[in-house]
Amino acid sequence: MKITVVGTGYVGLVSGVCFAEFGFDVTCVDKDQDKVSCLRNGEPTIFEPGLKKLMLKNMQAGRLVFTDDIAEAVKHTDVIFIAVGTPSQPDGSANLSYVFQAVEEIIPTVNQDAILVIKSTVPVGATRSVKEFLRQHGVELEVAFNPEFLKEGAAVEDFMHPDRIILGIESKRVKKILTALYRPLYVFNIPIQFTSLETAELSKYASNAFLAMKITFINEIANLCEVCGADVNDVALAMGLDKRIGDKFLQAGPGYGGSCFPKDTKALKSLAEKIGVSMPLVSETIRSNELRRSKMVEKILSACGNSVKDKNISVLGVTFKANTDDMRDSPSVEIVQALMEAGAVMRIYDPSFSEQAKQIFPTLRLDESVYSCCDNADAIVILTDWSEFRALNLHELRNKVRNPVIIDLRNIYTVSEVESAGFRYYSVGRKIRNN
Ligand code: UDX
Repeated sequence: MKITVVGTGYVGLVSGVCFAEFGFDVTCVDKDQDKVSCLRNGEPTIFEPGLKKLMLKNMQAGRLVFTDDIAEAVKHTDVIFIAVGTPSQPDGSANLSYVFQAVEEIIPTVNQDAILVIKSTVPVGATRSVKEFLRQHGVELEVAFNPEFLKEGAAVEDFMHPDRIILGIESKRVKKILTALYRPLYVFNIPIQFTSLETAELSKYASNAFLAMKITFINEIANLCEVCGADVNDVALAMGLDKRIGDKFLQAGPGYGGSCFPKDTKALKSLAEKIGVSMPLVSETIRSNELRRSKMVEKILSACGNSVKDKNISVLGVTFKANTDDMRDSPSVEIVQALMEAGAVMRIYDPSFSEQAKQIFPTLRLDESVYSCCDNADAIVILTDWSEFRALNLHELRNKVRNPVIIDLRNIYTVSEVESAGFRYYSVGRKIRNN
């Protein structure tokens, strides 16, 4: 089977590489010629553990090619995946222009027996609109919606070992072809759920909004813990032992970021408002998460005696989560900028050496290591839970700083281990023992 994947972002590139790994002939298309030439040289355009090796292997096997020529790519293809971006518009709704642009570009040469599968996260009804758009242009293509649930930083692993595959379909023929496509996973007993287009579309938004709400809930419990003396990590553990709740996505922190939760919660809110359905839980999740960033700034200011003016603040980790170089909607952007405005002298270190970080913080020095970043610091702020921050030599750090303060917004450490190294320790959802 020949597959074309349009869009080589996190979803498109990982999907294309993994479908090639399944043994299919895959053409990945992107309109960005720089990206295409980078990919053709065997260089992934995203930071994803394990992707490069898999990409090179399938390129060498002749199953994976890259092009910017969408018209050529779709001529002889059996399944076309649309995996382009659907960024938020000012009103929070999803911008579908890239989806429809890609669909328009396949019209002149698409193989009429091909199946068009939307993989981008789109509002309910969008896939059907795409089908109508094609019909208006004289093209009768069968369509499907197949949401992706991969997490950045674990994208290959998540694609290869999903909890489920959701396929919004309208015909037995499409069901048969897409089942064959996912057969390498199906044989591992990964459940495939066949639904209507609308059910599949809403399932994606509902899943992401629920996960965002779950994170926001534990962050609000953390606020309560700080006042009533409970430990949010232990509360999360106690909650997670209940199989109805589950122990994932209960890690309190600075609030969620990334290219999906913020976008998808706003798109769901916008969709509900447009069709006149009230969804206060989603609205409150968005509001609570946005407020959390300024709450983290207050925590840092309070830990620094209510002023950071002319103080050296060292930030460890600025990406929206560990194992990625992605800064999109990272809590660090607002937090670092607020501290700079309050007069702090900022230094940042991120293991991804993210190019996005250099562009977002052009005036800041991006240090080469944790220890150089913390030199002469008045406070160390841990903003992202990279594994290399989990076993720092706290005694060595203690000898390097000007003031022994650690503000751990990911609760990587325990209070006792940090205090025994001579630091004042502040974290999330745990009562501050020594002011
Ligand atoms: C998310 C969904 O998990 C994935 O299924 C979907 O396909 C895309 O969106 P992603 O945004 O890549 O994936 O990363 P994820 O691991 O979900 O983290 C999202 C944000 O939540 C990050 O800012 C992370 O730091 C935060 N988070 C996550 C928490 O604060 N606590 C947690 O327990 C988990």
